[in-house]
Amino acid sequence: DLPHQVTIYEVGPRDGLQNESAIVPVEVKAEFIDRLAGAGHKVIEATSFVHPKWVPQLADAEELLTRLHRKPGVRYPVLVPNARGLGRALDLGVDEIAIFASATETFAAKNLNRSLESQFEMFEPVVARALDSGIRVRAYVSMCFGDPWEGPTPIAQVVAVGERLLGLGCYELSLGDTIGVGTPGHVTALIEAFRTPERLAVHFHDTYGQALANTLAALRAGVSTIDASTGGIGGCPYAESATGNLATEDLVWMLRGLGIETGLDLGKLVATSTWLADLLGRPSPSRVVQALSKG
Ligand code: HMG
Ligand code: MG
Repeated sequence: DLPHQVTIYEVGPRDGLQNESAIVPVEVKAEFIDRLAGAGHKVIEATSFVHPKWVPQLADAEELLTRLHRKPGVRYPVLVPNARGLGRALDLGVDEIAIFASATETFAAKNLNRSLESQFEMFEPVVARALDSGIRVRAYVSMCFGDPWEGPTPIAQVVAVGERLLGLGCYELSLGDTIGVGTPGHVTALIEAFRTPERLAVHFHDTYGQALANTLAALRAGVSTIDASTGGIGGCPYAESATGNLATEDLVWMLRGLGIETGLDLGKLVATSTWLADLLGRPSPSRVVQALSKG
């Protein structure tokens, strides 16, 4: 009852880097993305068109996109929160975006400066214009399992936000465990509460060490798109308790063991993570990276 094929949606250049306080040079970001494509990634979330004051690390989004060596067959989606962000993305010829909503009132305020309800007023025109322009739109929903201020998030509340985002015409909904508090039973229950598991992806942060177990639960519940970040870097600047994403290398190791092919070259991923860790000045938190880069 596991999927034969899994799509890995790589978020390292966006989610991984957005939390770094020291600005990473744009040429390093471009090389990171080119290396990920070289390791076999087919979807790489490249950057965000958010307000540069909100996420200074990604203020170079325009320059980064012009520096990429786009590999045929590889998709390079970007985050877009609002009309201004979409305008910037359209100017660069972007063909795939992701909007990002919150399942909770407090995080909507902190991350988007909107209420739970008014975030939709921001997203609706963005999705409509994007679809009109032939752009694919993915949607995230954050704080799906718990929120640092409100505690556990009710499943019905996540489903209500998520179904509304899918209803706008988003092709996929990525369920974000922003602060990594989810556990496998909760994952199964949440996925089963949606009407269309085939349109879901999962996005686990590994704060409590549950990301791989949660991923296995999601695969068993019919999800076949998994978000991960090479080297396990990541976090959200507007949720202090958020740490790195599920590491792509840890995911690839598990999927290999399950006989599920990903087309990714694990050696190249590990080499990319150790290269980036040297530049960021601290080791990759991924256990697989640590194990395979010894000796
Ligand atoms: P706001 O302050 O309400 O913006 O921020 P506004 O609409 O009132 O506009 C104020 C000014 O900002 C205007 O300029 C706009 O033009 C400008 P003025 O007219 O005053 O000169 N502006 C922009 N400039 C450039 N690009 C833009 C943009 N938008 C407005 N896109 C806003 C609202 C949404 C912009 C802000 O809250 C924001 O940028 N938030 C982004 C926060 C963020 O990036 N968080 C991390 C990503 S989410 C995440 O990590 C979770 C995820 O990984 C899943 C998970 O783990 O759960 C996806
Ligand atoms: Mg995230």
